[in-house]
Formats: sequence, structure tokens, C-alpha cells
Amino acid sequence: MTQKYITTAIPYVNGVPHIGHAMDYCLADVCARYYKLLGDEVKMQAGADEHGGKIFQKAKELGVPVQEYVDANARKFQDFISKLDVSYSDYVRTSDAAHQKRVQEIWLKLKDHIYLEKYEGWYCTGCERFITQKEYDENNGVCPDHQKPYEKLKEENYYFKISDFKEKIRNAIINDEMRILPEFRKKEILKLLEDSPDVSISRPKSQLTWGVPVPDDDNQTMYVWLDALSNYITVLGYPETDISVWWPAAAQFVGKDILRFHAIIWPAMLLGLGLPLPKNIVSHGMVLADGQKMSKSIGNVVDPVELIDRYGVDAFRYFFLKHVDTFADADFTWEKFNNAYNNELANDFGNLVQRLSVMMSKNKVKMISVTTEMPTEYKKLMDEFRFSDAFAWVWEKVQKINKRIDDEKPWMLAKNGEVDKLSDCLQSLAADLVECNFLLSPFLPGATKKVDQIFTSGEITSPAQPLFPKQ
Ligand code: MSP
Repeated sequence: MTQKYITTAIPYVNGVPHIGHAMDYCLADVCARYYKLLGDEVKMQAGADEHGGKIFQKAKELGVPVQEYVDANARKFQDFISKLDVSYSDYVRTSDAAHQKRVQEIWLKLKDHIYLEKYEGWYCTGCERFITQKEYDENNGVCPDHQKPYEKLKEENYYFKISDFKEKIRNAIINDEMRILPEFRKKEILKLLEDSPDVSISRPKSQLTWGVPVPDDDNQTMYVWLDALSNYITVLGYPETDISVWWPAAAQFVGKDILRFHAIIWPAMLLGLGLPLPKNIVSHGMVLADGQKMSKSIGNVVDPVELIDRYGVDAFRYFFLKHVDTFADADFTWEKFNNAYNNELANDFGNLVQRLSVMMSKNKVKMISVTTEMPTEYKKLMDEFRFSDAFAWVWEKVQKINKRIDDEKPWMLAKNGEVDKLSDCLQSLAADLVECNFLLSPFLPGATKKVDQIFTSGEITSPAQPLFPKQ
């Protein structure tokens, strides 16, 4: 048995979860469940990013003590992860005392690569990121993601010497020692790395109080990214615990917007700590609503909880794992979601389960035992993290079973009293369904469990309710 560690980006808890946040969780969960099918022991982290100016400002606006504010929001995010049927094993909050202490130790370990310098330039609180003059000019001084003018900063900050590690990071990316996925992002990162300056890792306390205090300097607070990125190892107990059983991570899931932090700053930190680099960094695209970035001001934010309550969690996972290409941006509309639910999930799958189980129970055809195998095509796609392609590949097989039913017309065999032929036909169809069900289990854990229960026993009892009632 091998141990595999999978991570998800920790969201800022300055609001309620939205459908974009679900992408990291769902993809990482598919990965975790797939590795478990292969027989691996899996650990999966999730957490909350609770520090920084953005969260501090929001709590202030609401007139709530900031700790109280993050406590309440972190709870909402944790509830949300459970609602998604995500099998995480460890949860970390950056305001946890244990995490903060460990981050301070990490800072001290990196000390040889840290220096103090004056910064005069731009900052975006929405991104919690320093902005280069080139970016400022390209965007005419306004953040395209947050639609707010960049702020001018003039302050003294600690810097982390990315320059000490650039060559090693570059080689690790080129040699796929730290694989960046999808492949086309690799080139973007290599270009960014070339131009990447040393990064600021602190803010003066006068500007930012809500964060981990810099050790040995009362005037500075750590900048969120050093704090946040450390979560992946502090949650394992680093530095006081030997983390080599789990680290390096098998896969780290992040959105494309934060890939640069994970593919440049994070490996530099790991190299500075003498730790190995993650095996894979998998970056997914953005989910848009009606073709636009979701934003409260546009009023197009889709509430994932509403979707799950109305259609069920497997329907949610179906849409976002199959209709959203794992590596590309995708558009959500209620209409697309509803069509996918009714025409595919309810028709192709729910109906198939219903039809087969009814025919088997009515004709007293018993289930034969089926040994499930993992086809090489599926395994290849899953190993390359092409989850939406793997999902679609299995779905074609599901559709083929439906086609076989239409072609082989078991109801005619029943009508003509061809009992043996009928048994063979239904048993073979059910065996195919059980095989597909096995391959679908990382994607649709709830529904596939039910299907397993229906088709594993000798006697078949069809479900009283269809798995996916039409809406
Ligand atoms: N706090 C940082 C991550 C720190 S990880 C050490 C952060 N938080 S976030 O709340 O802005 O985003 C959390 C995750 O959700 C990121 O992977 C981000 O890409 C993802 N998404 C946020 N909005 C999204 C969409 N609209 N679509 C898809 N994913 C999106 O960044």
C-alpha cells in the first residue's frame, strides 16, 4: 500500500462559499477516491485562509470582532465541504494557534533567504498581492478581477529570495519532477518564473495587524501567502513531526488564478526548508456564470447550496465534474445544469438502473457475481488528472448499455417465454452496469453506493424511487 497526500487551496473566508470554491474540493475528492480504488492509503487536507487585510476590512465593515467573524465563516465552509460529500481527513485554519506557531518556525528556518527592504509600488487587497509596474500599466491601474484601483504602498517589508531557487524550480518543472498540469500552463509558469522578482512576505504592523506576527520583529506581520501556503505541511505537524510518510504531496489542486503562488513561491519555500517538491500541481479553470465572472456587484453569484438542496449532491458533482472540463474555464447556466440533469443523469443513468432492476426483479433473474476491473484507458486518463475526460469515457459506456437494451429488447424475450436467453441478457447488461458503476464511484459516491446495494445481492429489488427524479 502506498500513501498519497492530496491538498486543496484554502479559501479566504470573507464570505459564503460559491460554486467556484467547489471545484478544488470536488476534483481533489475524485482523486482521493480514485487512489483508494487503487488500494492506496489517502490523506486529504482542506482548510480556511483567515488572515489578511481583506478579511480584516470585511469584519470591520460588519462591526464584528474579526476572530468571531472567521469562526462563523470557517464553519460555513466546513459544512459546505461535507455537503459536497468530500472525503477530507484533515482540516486546518490559519488562525489556529498550532498553525501560527509552526509558520513562525518555518519563517526562522528560511531566515537565510529573507531580507528587509523598502517597497514602493502597487498592491491589490482583493488579490492580496503586490503588483508590478508592468502589470499596473497593462491593466491601466485597475485590478481586472476586482474592478478596484491598485493601492499605492510605500513601506518596509521582508523579502523572500526567490532568486536563490529559480534554477532548481525551473529544472524541476522542465523535468516534470514537479509536474504542472495542464501542460500549457507549464510554459506560462516558466515565463513568469523568469521575470519573477523576490517576493514580499510581510507588511508593517501599522498596515496589517490581522496575521501571524513575524518572529524577532514586533513591527511586522506576515503577509498572507507565506502563512497560507505553509498550511499544506503545518497540518501534517511540520516542523516537529516527520512528515515523510505523506510529503511530498501526490497532487495539489488549485485554480489557475493562484497557480503562480503554488508553482513559484511554494516550491521556493520547500527548497529553502530542504523538503521535496510536490509531485503534481493540478490547476483547474474558472467557473463563470452566464459567461461572466461571478460577482456580488453583477448579482450573478450562484449559490451552490441551493443547487445541492434542489437537485442533490451527485447532480452537482455530475455537472461540475463532467460538463466542466477539468482544465478549462466553463460557463454555468441553470438551463445547462437542468438539461444535463434530466437528459443525462436521470435518463441515461437513473432510468437505466430503474429499467434493469425492474426487469430483473419482475422476471426473478438473480445477479451473478461480477469482478470489476480498471480499464487501461480509464486509468490513463485518471492518472493524467483528466477527470472530465475519464468521466465522459465511462458515460459513453453507460449509453452503450442503454443502446444494447433497445437493440436486444429483453421484454420481447420475456413475452416469448425465452427464459434462459432473458436471464443471460439481463445478467450481462447488469454486469456491464456494475462495471460502469465501479468506475463512476469517485465521481458520484452517493448514487453509485445505492446502485451497488441494488445489484450486489442475488435477489434484485428495484428502488421505490428513481435515483434521479425528473425536474
Ligand atoms: N486563500 C487563497 C488560497 C490559498 S491556498 C494556500 C485563495 N482563496 S479563494 O477563496 O480566492 O480561492 C480558493 C480556491 O477557489 C482557489 O483554488 C480558486 O482558484 C478557486 N476559485 C475561486 N473562484 C473560482 C471560480 N469562479 N471558479 C473556479 N474556481 C475558483 O485564493
